[in-house]
Amino acid sequence: MKKYTSINDIENINSWIKEAREIKANPLANIALGKNKTLGLLFFNSSLRTRLSTQKAALNLGMDPIVMNVSGDAWGIEFGDGTIMNGNTAEHIKEAAAVVSQYCNVIAVRAFPTLTDKEKDETEQVLNSFVKYASVPVVSMESATGHPLQGLTDALTIAENPLKKKPKVVLSWAPHIKALPHAVANSFTQAMQKMDVEFVIANPKGYDLSKEITKDTPIYNNQKEAFKDADFIYAKNWSSYESYGQILEVDDNWTITKNKIVDAKFMHCLPVRRNVVVEDAVLDSENSLVIEQANNRTYAAQLVLKKILEKL
Ligand code: CP
Repeated sequence: MKKYTSINDIENINSWIKEAREIKANPLANIALGKNKTLGLLFFNSSLRTRLSTQKAALNLGMDPIVMNVSGDAWGIEFGDGTIMNGNTAEHIKEAAAVVSQYCNVIAVRAFPTLTDKEKDETEQVLNSFVKYASVPVVSMESATGHPLQGLTDALTIAENPLKKKPKVVLSWAPHIKALPHAVANSFTQAMQKMDVEFVIANPKGYDLSKEITKDTPIYNNQKEAFKDADFIYAKNWSSYESYGQILEVDDNWTITKNKIVDAKFMHCLPVRRNVVVEDAVLDSENSLVIEQANNRTYAAQLVLKKILEKL
């Protein structure tokens, strides 16, 4: 595999899940595969899980991970073509990506959206510039519009909890105090569309995700209706896509409560704001899968890195 920047890079999700489960059962089986290979992790934004689980995945494969907080520690990078660089940016992506490619066999990048400029965000300027100018494979650790390592993780987590042959999975919008990206919701939606599940989305009016992502997935504006007979409820906040990046007034209370989810398994990518997104009683219950989801981040990343290393 040459890159992993989207759920669409997964050609067969069932075989990927099977392989991820094999890796989880024996994480050090391929420790020789990454010997003398370096993974560079470049963070334009904060992270706990992605930062640690991707390094852990690399270590399990015998790779040497090196990490840089690009926003804080590197020279300001210019992404525009033909820019006269007499402003705040000191280095062009053409040199930056080429140089990092000299040090690393694989480059992983995290770069969030502006949430102010929809068109710019949808070009995935940072991620796609690394893909364009790096001479080594590139992995998304969450970009403006997708979080494919998280989406793969979530598919793996659902497959590990076989409640019924074709479970009902609900992606529910939940409240938050800040305007958040659509990336996790987008990649989860794309992953569920590849799985043999009954998948629906619940969100307030004005919060529909991009139609290019949701396609013909049913969207409910009534959370209670969507939650009926649900086996898995995945909570996530996202800002409005239509009124791009805005937080809109919402009539009902969309916080996930124990009363609402009944016996469904609860999922969230973390970090999560307790008693805003979801109440304590859910997170602290046996129905919560959030810690196992975070654990599975390692095996999803390890599968992606393994597939890349096998083609180097
Ligand atoms: N779920 C996730 O990506 O977590 P971090 O932002 O902490 O990496």
